[in-house]
Amino acid sequence: MTHLIINGTPVDVPEGTMVLRAAEKAGFTIPTLCDHPDLTPYGGCRLCLVEVKGARAMAASCALPVSEGMEVTTESEALFKSRREILEFLLFAYHDSGYENGQKDETQFMHWVRHFGLDATKTQSSEPRYKVDSDPNPVVWVDLNKCILCNRCVRACEEVQGRFVWGLTKRGFDSEVSPGANTDMLTARCESCGACVAYCPTGALDNKPSIGAGKPDKLVTTTCAYCGVGCQFDLNVKDGKIIRVTSNPNAPVNGMHLCVKGRYGYDYVHHAERLTKPMVRKYLLDGEPRTTNRSSSEWVETDWETTLNITARKLRESRDNFGPDSVGILTSAKCTNEENYLMNKLARQVIGTNNIDHCARL
Ligand code: SF4
Ligand code: SF4
Ligand code: FES
Repeated sequence: MTHLIINGTPVDVPEGTMVLRAAEKAGFTIPTLCDHPDLTPYGGCRLCLVEVKGARAMAASCALPVSEGMEVTTESEALFKSRREILEFLLFAYHDSGYENGQKDETQFMHWVRHFGLDATKTQSSEPRYKVDSDPNPVVWVDLNKCILCNRCVRACEEVQGRFVWGLTKRGFDSEVSPGANTDMLTARCESCGACVAYCPTGALDNKPSIGAGKPDKLVTTTCAYCGVGCQFDLNVKDGKIIRVTSNPNAPVNGMHLCVKGRYGYDYVHHAERLTKPMVRKYLLDGEPRTTNRSSSEWVETDWETTLNITARKLRESRDNFGPDSVGILTSAKCTNEENYLMNKLARQVIGTNNIDHCARL
């Protein structure tokens, strides 16, 4: 362990811990923008500056490893002034075009702007430098006018998703994040997972389907319905409808990460064509043989009792006429263990086939 003192408080942390994490452990909040605990330290924005006794200059605490006996100060007049100037500097190249981004809370960047007493509307650039919604990706909204070059999208795409879509291009004031070799996201092999959106602290990258959707009334933490991984996330609900999915950093299985289905595939919930009642082909309901006649093949609504009876009859017919292996059963990772156990019994003992599979591969 390494022993250090932060704001007069003794702290013990494992060797190699960054000062920022040690300060968090001791209960001190240091403003950050480019840092995220899931990503490798970057040290780019300098908002997390601290004073270290004996050091010649302030240091970025997110990229500064602790050392034995170190004495750190996280709040002072000089630090406040430096951080405020950094935010002011970032605002000079920032432009908000005024659209409703559908986020519940202000962005991390706007939080610190307000915290340091700055008025974004007065300090921000008066003109956009880039086209708003500049990328044709169907789900990721790109507005580089709000980009502060924190590099979190670049690291998230590399380190969380392993796709290497984003990179930093050009130099100086013209620097910008760009997909691939200055192409568009999908050409740069983006999988539309939205990890870059989840880690962006300014809304420069955002969820395209949620732009203009208004603010959610509430967040509902739930488990993804698609596969057996069991990712958790927050449904952003407005007027009883899902308008956005956001990462929940406390999700035990997936943390901030989601795939394209979990983050963007929620429109089926309210889809007008979603099946909410059991349906069968009309000829089955009438007890007639299979037909190509269009009117007899139509789907008609019925009750569960009728549907299950028809299913049982057809399974029995297949087994008796063509043998047990003419039947295959696919179960779901979203069923309980007990339900899957029962389906296993149905396949092997009632029908007599080993043709049973399960999407979780457990
Ligand atoms: S959506 Fe996912 S794959 Fe595409 S650029 Fe963002 S992080 Fe990379
Ligand atoms: S797009 Fe967002 S995450 Fe990427 S560098 Fe800009 S501000 Fe940071
Ligand atoms: S948060 Fe430390 S330099 Fe950006």
